[in-house]
Amino acid sequence: MNMKELQRRRRQLAKMMGPDSIAIIPTAQMQIRNRDVEREFRPDSDFFYLTGFHEPESVAVLMPGHGEGEYLIFCRERDEQMETWTGRRVGPEGACEQFGADDAFPIDDIGDILPGLMEHCSRLWYAMGCNPEFDKRVIDWMNYLRNQGRSGVHAPLEIVALDHVLHDMRLYKSRTEVSLMRRAANISAKAHKVAMQTCQPGMTEYQLEAELLYQFKVQGAQSVAYSTIVGGGDNGCILHYTENSDELNDGDLVLIDAGCELDCYASDITRTWPVNGRFSDAQTELYEIVLSAQEAAFKQVVAGNTWNDPHRAAVKEITRGLISIGLLKGKLNSLIKDKAYQRFYMHRTGHWLGMDVHDVGDYKVGDEWRVLENGMALTVEPGLYIPLNAKGVAKRWRGIGIRIEDDVVVRNDDCDVLSKAAPKTIKEIEAVMAA
Ligand code: GLY
Ligand code: MN
Ligand code: MN
Repeated sequence: MNMKELQRRRRQLAKMMGPDSIAIIPTAQMQIRNRDVEREFRPDSDFFYLTGFHEPESVAVLMPGHGEGEYLIFCRERDEQMETWTGRRVGPEGACEQFGADDAFPIDDIGDILPGLMEHCSRLWYAMGCNPEFDKRVIDWMNYLRNQGRSGVHAPLEIVALDHVLHDMRLYKSRTEVSLMRRAANISAKAHKVAMQTCQPGMTEYQLEAELLYQFKVQGAQSVAYSTIVGGGDNGCILHYTENSDELNDGDLVLIDAGCELDCYASDITRTWPVNGRFSDAQTELYEIVLSAQEAAFKQVVAGNTWNDPHRAAVKEITRGLISIGLLKGKLNSLIKDKAYQRFYMHRTGHWLGMDVHDVGDYKVGDEWRVLENGMALTVEPGLYIPLNAKGVAKRWRGIGIRIEDDVVVRNDDCDVLSKAAPKTIKEIEAVMAA
């Protein structure tokens, strides 16, 4: 992330905080996978959004108007021996030189330095509840200051929810962010296409997963944005199926929900295709319903509409489609009102997308659905799920799970589909798989 953009974000936050304020933003904690094996480290999104700093055991501090430094970083000290064992460190000096901090200190000194900085501020901006271990330290520092009241020391009077303002900032994606998210979406789209080309009856779900993971890495993405879902046949009806352990059968569909993470930005794409390369009649009928629901939803993704408009459009198309093939019986409006579609379409049509796959930002303001604005990013992901054991449903529809998911950015006159390189129509998919 370029330094100018990071600085712009810190300035925007500082302006909202005003003087006499201190924000404390710790990064994520290292986590143990088993015994002494650590999970791969991923910085906390809020922390990384403001700092671009990738090391564990780091804390950023913002103090708007503070003469001796408005932006401070606490981080690990350089240590030749430790760096030989566990990797390079930037160190406090590097945090200033490479990451633009006004001043930086060893993380081990934070308890000696931070309370003294907090003392001069009446408002503490902190995301309480996100990091229980660090919460405890912050509370201890507050109590330490309060206990010195008789010596004239002041503790901050107010604790303000930092996450609320920061998450609202993160909801609006800048040009740099959109171009990064487009790159991530393109990598994932290509991975889906390669998986389509590779897919054969008799392969296993994990072998297709491996193809996607290979494509993510080989194209430069550091990680997946979430656990990859590869569900053949009935497994496609389990929304968050991640076992990926079964064989893929001739005549079944396979549903793949897979997205890479690039420089801490997520992509989130789902495609569903026939394992043998040809959609059956029943699969075609259901697929076309989901596709038309997605197209109807896309049309509602435009600045000025509300968050719920794309979902409402998708639900209408899904319900209409289910009536047309006889899976729902009754009048369109009353089936929608009674949520009859939820038997086969039980999730919402999308979520905010950004540094986190289910990104931050409010969906309602007060009691009203949020108005979509230029630069907001979201997924559009209608689906239909008819498990093998569905009661009272003709056999031809059973064991079919379909989801079609794309990543989009709201614009003033339409929506910008970031993931359009992933083949999607029946014609495109069959052509890719036949080639
Ligand atoms: N992959 C999770 C989701 O689509 O929301
Ligand atoms: Mn999604
Ligand atoms: Mn998804």
